[in-house]
Amino acid sequence: MAVASREVHLIERPEGLPVATQFEIVETTIDDPAEGEFLIRNQYMSVDPAMRPRLSNGQQPLHKPLGAGTIGVVTASRHSAFAEGDVVQHGLGFREYVVSDGRGVSRLDAAGFPPTLYMHVLGPTGFTAWGGMLITGELKDGENVFVSAAAGAVGSVAAQIARIKGCYVIGSAGSSEKCEWLENELSIDVAINYKEGVLRKNLKAAATQGIDVYFENVGGEHLDAALPRMNVGGRIPVCGMISAYNNFGARSTGVTTLSNMVYQRITMRGFVVTDFEEKREKFLDDMRGWVADGQMKYRETVFEGIEQAADALIGLFTGENIGKALVKLD
Ligand SMILES: NC(=O)c1ccc[n+]([C@@H]2O[C@H](COP(=O)([O-])OP(=O)(O)OC[C@H]3O[C@@H](n4cnc5c(N)ncnc54)[C@H](OP(=O)(O)O)[C@@H]3O)[C@@H](O)[C@H]2O)c1
Repeated sequence: MAVASREVHLIERPEGLPVATQFEIVETTIDDPAEGEFLIRNQYMSVDPAMRPRLSNGQQPLHKPLGAGTIGVVTASRHSAFAEGDVVQHGLGFREYVVSDGRGVSRLDAAGFPPTLYMHVLGPTGFTAWGGMLITGELKDGENVFVSAAAGAVGSVAAQIARIKGCYVIGSAGSSEKCEWLENELSIDVAINYKEGVLRKNLKAAATQGIDVYFENVGGEHLDAALPRMNVGGRIPVCGMISAYNNFGARSTGVTTLSNMVYQRITMRGFVVTDFEEKREKFLDDMRGWVADGQMKYRETVFEGIEQAADALIGLFTGENIGKALVKLD
């Protein structure tokens, strides 16, 4: 029997910070799966900064569900490889139900962990932090580390990996609540509220031994402040530049200190999570171990209902989330 479903569409391309009226909840009817297909009822949708540039640069089509990672359960199947009750993970976007032929859908074996962990600490954002820190950043035990957007999904994992490796860890975040969580719950050494005082000065005061690895999530003023603090041979794995994503062409602003790359022989290298695919088993081994023994903590900011999806996405740019931003569907 066909089911009623709702989807989140982009109806107008944003300039600057998106507003809720640029999105629309569209009601639709999903037909029964045909032979070789199955029906998924989505349970959680992942909200990610990378969705933002696509809204303006045309990669996200208008009047189609927003592309995003999702976890759901199979509720009817005429497909040989997927059975009713299977928990699945896919990128078919912001919608309550979807029919699939299996392309781009994988069955999720959560191995005893809550399935939502595979949307963050055991999933894409955790893998990003692990690969960026240990492979691109070539982190060594006991180094001095700075992580920006440290109370977010990627940043909180990156900061804790450095702490697990015995590093001195400085993190930046945009509120005192986030800084308290970083210092008191995640046990990082110093959390800087970049919205108070002068970041450049506060980072200089915190980084008494300089910085060997700057895990870059923000760009702009953060990169400008970090470069003069880098030690000789320092590495900057460039994960993202969220401060730029609402600008035209996602252009970053305000970096005036690049000459330090020469003086300090700094390596700055961008990466995307798919670069590390061949190391996925090693990542899962490490991260499942750290989560199971309590060394790796996590937090979810859950927005309830598909009606909250646009606000959840906008909230990434106003700092609404601590840890991973998710939308839970009814
Ligand atoms: N390379 C890859 O494969 C890959 C994969 C996933 C994510 N990423 C990147 O990793 C970064 C973090 O992503 P995430 O999913 O973990 O998101 P997140 O950190 O959970 O959420 C975004 C956070 O960024 C901070 N922020 C927003 N605008 C800011 C600004 N102008 N200046 C400073 N901080 C700002 C906000 O926290 P505050 O309250 O602290 O401001 C917000 O909570 C992003 O740059 C993203 O593009 C890269």
